[in-house]
Amino acid sequence: MIIDIRDEYHNHIEEAAKIIEKGGLVGMPTETVYGLAANAFDEQAVASIFEIKGRPQDNPLIVHVDGILMARELGELSEKAQVLAAEFWPGPLTMVVKSTGRVPVSVNAGLDTVGLRMPDCDAALSLITAAGVPIAAPSANKSGSPSPTTAAHVAADFEDSLTVLDAGECRIGLESTVIDMTREVPVILRPGAVTQEMIAACIGEVDCANAFTPFEGDKPAAPGMKYRHYAPKADMTVVEGQPASVTEAIKYLYDKDLKKGEKPLVLALQENKRYYGRRDLAVTGSIRDASETAKNIYALLRRADEEGYSKIYFEAVPKCGIGFAVMNRVYKAAAYNIVKV
Ligand code: TXA
Ligand code: MG
Repeated sequence: MIIDIRDEYHNHIEEAAKIIEKGGLVGMPTETVYGLAANAFDEQAVASIFEIKGRPQDNPLIVHVDGILMARELGELSEKAQVLAAEFWPGPLTMVVKSTGRVPVSVNAGLDTVGLRMPDCDAALSLITAAGVPIAAPSANKSGSPSPTTAAHVAADFEDSLTVLDAGECRIGLESTVIDMTREVPVILRPGAVTQEMIAACIGEVDCANAFTPFEGDKPAAPGMKYRHYAPKADMTVVEGQPASVTEAIKYLYDKDLKKGEKPLVLALQENKRYYGRRDLAVTGSIRDASETAKNIYALLRRADEEGYSKIYFEAVPKCGIGFAVMNRVYKAAAYNIVKV
C-alpha cells in the first residue's frame, strides 16, 4: 500500500513507526533510493528483510541512524569517522566501523563491523526518531533487480501488503557511498554521490576498491559487491569511447539487432540524441553532469523491461564526480558487457 506522506505527514510517520515497533517492514524513502526498513534490534524483523528481498544471508544490511548519538551506540567511530560524519551526515555516506555488539549479528551477516548511515531525508529521519530505534534497510528491490527510486518501484517488487511511504522521486537516485573505516587507510567499497575526492579532502588518503572489474576468485571487499546487481531483464551493453564512435557503434549494433528480430533501446546522452534518427531512445542526462543520469538510470532500466525491450545500449558518461558511481552500477547491470570504441 502506497501512502503519500506529503500531506498528513506526522500521522503517517507515526503509523509507520508503529509498524516498525511491532516488528513489521516499511518501504522508506531516502535521498538515495527507497529502503526496506525494519527495527535493527529485532532479529525476526531483520530475518524477514532477507526473506522477502531474497537476499543472500552473507550480505550485511546498512543501519540507518537519526544522528551521531545513535551511531555511537552501535559502532566505534574513529577520529576520521567523526570528521566524515560531521562533514557528510546527514547524507549519502555509509561508514563501516567496528560494531559495539548492540546490533544483532544477523544484521552484519556475522561480521564484527556495522555499516552506519544518517540519511538526508526528513521522512526517514522522522521515522527513525519516532520508532526510537536504528533502522536496518537495504534497497527496497528484489535482490538482483534495479534499485527503487520511486514508491511505485517498491510496490512493483513487493506485494501490496507492504506499506510504502511515498515522498516522491529520490533526489540522488544511486545508493550511498560505502566506506570501510576500519582500515589504516579507509577504503571505498561502493562509490556514490560522496566521491573519493570529497572524502580525501577531509581526511587525506583514501583507497577505492576496484569499481570497474568483476570479482572472480578474489574475495570482494563488500559482501554485496559479488552479486549481479541492478540488472534489467534485457541484455545490456555499455558502449564507451569517443562520442562520435560511440553513436556509430550503437547504430550499427542496433540495426543488426533489429534484423534479428530483437527489440533494442538506446540510452543516450542529451547531446547525442539527434544522431539516432527514428531509433527507440531514452535520454539519460547530459555529458557535462552525470547527476541527471544518476537520478534517472534505475527508472529507465525498469521502464525498458516494462516496455519489453530485449537489448539496451547505454552511452557511457565520463567517470568523474557521480559519473564514477554511475559507471560502476551500469557495468554491473550490463554484467560487464562493455564495448570500447
Ligand atoms: O543508499 C543506500 O545505501 C541505500 C538506502 C536505502 O540507504 N541502501 C542500500 O543498501 O543500498 P543495500 O543493502 O542495498 O547495500 C548495502 C551495501 C552492500 O553492498 C553491503 O555489502 C554493504 O553495504 N555493507 C553493509 N554493511 C557492511 C559491513 N558491515 N561491511 C561491509 N559491507 C557492508
Ligand atoms: Mg541493494
